[in-house]
Amino acid sequence: MSEPKIQMACDRDQLAKMAAGRIVEAAEGAIGKTGRFSLVLSGGSTPKALYELLAEAPYKDQVEWDKVHIFFGDERCVAPDHADSNYRMANEAMLSKLPIPPAQVHRMRGEIAPVDAAAEYDALLRSFFAIDGPDVVLLGLGDDAHTASLFPHTAALSADDKLCVSNWVEKLKATRLTMTASFLNRAHEVIFLVAGATKADAVRQVLEGESDPDRLPAQRIKPSDGQLIWLLDVQAAEMEQSQ
Ligand code: 6PG
Repeated sequence: MSEPKIQMACDRDQLAKMAAGRIVEAAEGAIGKTGRFSLVLSGGSTPKALYELLAEAPYKDQVEWDKVHIFFGDERCVAPDHADSNYRMANEAMLSKLPIPPAQVHRMRGEIAPVDAAAEYDALLRSFFAIDGPDVVLLGLGDDAHTASLFPHTAALSADDKLCVSNWVEKLKATRLTMTASFLNRAHEVIFLVAGATKADAVRQVLEGESDPDRLPAQRIKPSDGQLIWLLDVQAAEMEQSQ
């Protein structure tokens, strides 16, 4: 794996623009090479501005959306119209505004039994990515250094024989669906999108602290052959700069 690239944005708007530029570039390359582009979306609130940007000119006119396949890195165990649904956020911000064929938006079914939803998604990933990995994976970072729904000291961290699992998260008293680190590491490119001062300590520990992948799950993300990019706004990078 090549060294992570760390790129700084002055604010959240620039962060979204930097990520959108990378995605457009990666989509052009992948579609030119394989005829399709697979993009794994992250949940939470940070990527919303990016999703809204991709659904507007000029970005929406720069991607052959009919050749794009959308996946989700994780999902809450709720219905797709629930306020907490990562799918709902992405659909409202972007997917509903772009000409992506509905059959190419691969939702994790949070509304069914988590074990069944995880097994269903695991099978989908094994079939779609039989010989390859996702072109681009977007990830966020929690202030506890979780990413996707790979939370510290949870069972999903040791489920690397699977591609997608259901994961009980004690601190949330909730079950989540999540791609595993081993699958995420098959990506051609992983982009962490991190903003805000509350994330600065987690960024510093993950990038500069001791290796402790059970306590700092984001440290497990090391694409085997792919590129790892950290897009940080100045606030999230603050502890990083002060070291
Ligand atoms: C989720 C995400 C999760 C998120 C981080 C950061 O389902 O919540 O997948 O990993 O990316 O918690 O969330 P924010 O962007 O809201 O800070």
